[in-house]
Amino acid sequence: MTHAVKFTELSSDSTVIKEKKTDWMSGPWLFFRRWIAHPLRMGSVVPSSPALCRRVVAAVRCAADEVVLELGAGTGVIARALLASGFPAERLIVVEIEQEMVAKLRRDLPGALVIEGDARVLSELIPAHLQGRIGTVICGIPLVLLPRPEQRRFIDAIEAVAAGRGFLHYSYCATSPLPFRAHQLSAKREAWTPLNIPPASVWRYLPL
Ligand SMILES: C[S@@+](CC[C@H](N)C(=O)[O-])C[C@H]1O[C@@H](n2cnc3c(N)ncnc32)[C@H](O)[C@@H]1O
Repeated sequence: MTHAVKFTELSSDSTVIKEKKTDWMSGPWLFFRRWIAHPLRMGSVVPSSPALCRRVVAAVRCAADEVVLELGAGTGVIARALLASGFPAERLIVVEIEQEMVAKLRRDLPGALVIEGDARVLSELIPAHLQGRIGTVICGIPLVLLPRPEQRRFIDAIEAVAAGRGFLHYSYCATSPLPFRAHQLSAKREAWTPLNIPPASVWRYLPL
């Protein structure tokens, strides 16, 4: 059975409002500091907007016995939007390379599996019993900024743990951020939003 992911706003009780306020201050500042250190890894100066998060969450497809894997989760805004939609934390895995981001993700995503590591070696990071049980992979790593052989490493790493599933990828490019035919992928723009800095698209790539 497919989990219908529905985005709902976080409840408006005072604890959550306080958390949202704290996050509004800490998330973008953390993101900006990591961008100064690693601009190519971060790919943007600010976290993904709520509008983009909603669109990514709406594109998630996941059967009841499957998990969602997010690569390059950053400040965790997409993961939190997914959980706010009703998706169970126990079925969420996030991978992030920046230690400071990982600390925040562990604080903000109780119950989820937060893995610190390089998504190019996913098969070494994802527990064996979860490989092959991944319904959707969300890739936030800015692949467009990488040379083609490096893009291939990420694509192969995803295929190794989620064979045939492809991945969702959000990007600020006007056209496909990946040369999909060269990578033997099909590409579909699932959504676009002007309500992001800069405007962003959600792409679904599938192996041919
Ligand atoms: C565009 S940002 C993610 C934005 C995220 N949606 C947010 O709003 O915070 C890309 C993220 O990918 C992470 N990243 C880059 N290369 C990575 C790699 N090889 N493995 C895992 N994470 C990586 C970066 O540290 C960064 O947090």
